[in-house]
Amino acid sequence: MILITGATGTIGREVVRLLADRDVPFRAMSRGSTGFRADFDDPTSLRRAVDGVDTAFLLTAPATATSRHDLALLDAAKAAGVAKVVKLSAIGTGETTPDGRVIGAWHLAGERALQASGLAWTVLRPSSFASNVLRFAQDGGLANLTGDGKQGVVDPRDVAAVAVEALTDTVHNGRIYTLTGPDLLSVPEQAAQLSRVLGRPVDTVEVSPEHLLGSGMDEEAAAEVAAGTAWVRDGHNAIVTDDVERVLGRPPTGFTTWARDHAALFG
Ligand SMILES: NC(=O)c1ccc[n+]([C@@H]2O[C@H](COP(=O)([O-])OP(=O)(O)OC[C@H]3O[C@@H](n4cnc5c(N)ncnc54)[C@H](OP(=O)(O)O)[C@@H]3O)[C@@H](O)[C@H]2O)c1
Repeated sequence: MILITGATGTIGREVVRLLADRDVPFRAMSRGSTGFRADFDDPTSLRRAVDGVDTAFLLTAPATATSRHDLALLDAAKAAGVAKVVKLSAIGTGETTPDGRVIGAWHLAGERALQASGLAWTVLRPSSFASNVLRFAQDGGLANLTGDGKQGVVDPRDVAAVAVEALTDTVHNGRIYTLTGPDLLSVPEQAAQLSRVLGRPVDTVEVSPEHLLGSGMDEEAAAEVAAGTAWVRDGHNAIVTDDVERVLGRPPTGFTTWARDHAALFG
């Protein structure tokens, strides 16, 4: 039995779809009304979620609660005798900026706790999801927090496909995979590709990290995002790896293909 946390989100619902295609037994967890209802903040519900589970996919939502949620699931998993956990982390986790700030601090405690847990583990560190442009889309164009900083933008479907391999094959135990697409792209370059696919102009709108505070994000989370976006802006995430191809045996999906497959979502 495989537990999928974050099962209704971008990555989780694709993992669920792929496991269903393979006829692998799984439990799809979220706080929603479909699937298995549980909350990382509710220990009783977590104990029920991991009961009888062999392998868990650990996906916690990006916010200051990430570490607490990771540790809660790991505690419950260990107590229930879960054998393996595959954690979705993020590229750059644990790197430090020249002024000593830790990048990806949200995921660091969870990664470390998992590696010290005695459980079998795999850590997936994806680059920026292609689907982020759906969240960036606003009236004037794509919100751009990262200037001309390039990233190995990855198709979330490839991240999910790698997760399924890691969940179902012990050959991936003890591995950290940095998951990227085939190309380094800035947000303006993504806008240009999207524009060609949609057949209309797609502009970008520069957004400063300070703007996030005004958007209702709490101070600690906004500081974390500001450090992460400055890291990207300064070129530190300009990384392409062959990890997707090594795991899946085929090249990663490019941004234009993702955009074509999702063009209808842009109205
Ligand atoms: N976006 C990127 O470019 C990027 C890049 C690298 C890494 N990541 C990492 O990817 C992860 C996000 O993945 P995603 O985009 O697939 O997530 P998502 O679409 O935001 O979905 C989050 C999932 O978590 C569930 N959830 C939220 N709070 C919960 C709680 N308290 N208890 C139980 N379930 C809860 C949500 O369902 P309910 O709300 O219904 O409970 C949903 O299924 C983050 O850890 C992020 O750091 C993202």
